[in-house]
Amino acid sequence: MGQAEILYTPFTMGSLHLRNRFVMAPMTRNFSPGGIPSDGVAGYYRRRAEADVGLIITEGVGVDHPAAVGRETMGGGASPVLHGDEALARWRTIVDGVHAAGGLIIPQLWHQGVIRVPGTGYHPDAPSARPSGIWGPTDKAMVSPDYLEQVRVPTAPLTDSEIGDLIAAFARSAANAKAVGFDGVALHGAHGYLIDSFLWRHTNVREDRWGGGIAERARFAVELVRAIRAVTAPDFPVIFRFSQWKLQDYDARNAETPAELEAMLAPLVEAGVDIFDASTRIFTAPAFEGSDMGLAGWIRKLTGKPTIAVGGVGLSKDLQSSFAQPTVMTDNLALVADRMARGEFDLIAVGRALLMDAQWVAKMRDGGAVNPFRLDAYATLD
Ligand SMILES: Cc1cc2nc3c(=O)[nH]c(=O)nc-3n(C[C@H](O)[C@H](O)[C@H](O)COP(=O)(O)O)c2cc1C
Repeated sequence: MGQAEILYTPFTMGSLHLRNRFVMAPMTRNFSPGGIPSDGVAGYYRRRAEADVGLIITEGVGVDHPAAVGRETMGGGASPVLHGDEALARWRTIVDGVHAAGGLIIPQLWHQGVIRVPGTGYHPDAPSARPSGIWGPTDKAMVSPDYLEQVRVPTAPLTDSEIGDLIAAFARSAANAKAVGFDGVALHGAHGYLIDSFLWRHTNVREDRWGGGIAERARFAVELVRAIRAVTAPDFPVIFRFSQWKLQDYDARNAETPAELEAMLAPLVEAGVDIFDASTRIFTAPAFEGSDMGLAGWIRKLTGKPTIAVGGVGLSKDLQSSFAQPTVMTDNLALVADRMARGEFDLIAVGRALLMDAQWVAKMRDGGAVNPFRLDAYATLD
């Protein structure tokens, strides 16, 4: 273990007590037909908690809105939801299993927004939720022509009352999360999905109170956080995932400068976000010119809130490259520990490495060969 010792020290934030700094990154698995987590899902999460993952952030979970989840860029269509007796009973079992193993678990509340393929999902007739009716610019999109064909057609922009319904849907799902015993909620505010589509000026060209300047584009996220706070509890942990990149454009930026980033995130802190999860493809990637600090470091510095960094931990290639280029497991924890010790971030999220090997956190501490990287692991719930 050596230099990586700091990663195995506990972390406390309000009512949240993690036994170490490792967070399982949210990963869509598509093993929940009809929105109900299948039998294997409980074991999948429990095995990771048994092998010392500090906090599990679940796969994206569709909020209680008809257009929340459907098919999207990479396929999909069997994501879980967090409403209805059957789904809630399954989640209770999953949460209890993780808690029995000494872990914590938080659902990632997800609405696909503009990314959903119209006519798909559990309510195919529901129109996709798009702030301005548009998917975004298509010239930089790294998605299949077939997918693009289905989403590029403009649709009706959301009305004010539809926006109100979306906020209420998030609040209902957050209340359900608390009721089944989850340790908080995580909002998927990244990658071009609904929340991010309000933040990004290329998918939000509204001129009412939900669009225009940075504060107006952040308003939807702010109102969500407020609504969630109101139906849960003042100390119920709320994590917010933020990214610059989106499925429409890997080089996109919601904030061009640290000042813009601060203007976008300060109202979220005010509304009650406890922890920011800075989604980057590589955790060491500099966020702005003139500094080698990553996005999690900047967010921590500008908001004063704890942050989670992510991207490329335990692996030789980032997520997108790993589909096309040879990728191997690698031990880069000394680099993670070094940046954490310097105060860049508080927690480190691990995606693919933990998908390949449920025991990855324990093995990296105690020794033992980790499973190799295999693309076909995405098709299993091992
Ligand atoms: C199979 C798979 C599914 C993913 N699904 C989600 C998701 O539902 N929500 C999300 O915010 N990120 C999702 N991601 C991104 C991961 O959370 C993470 O940010 C990314 O994989 C980089 O971390 P890594 O390099 O440790 O894998 C997914 C990644 C993978 C590999």
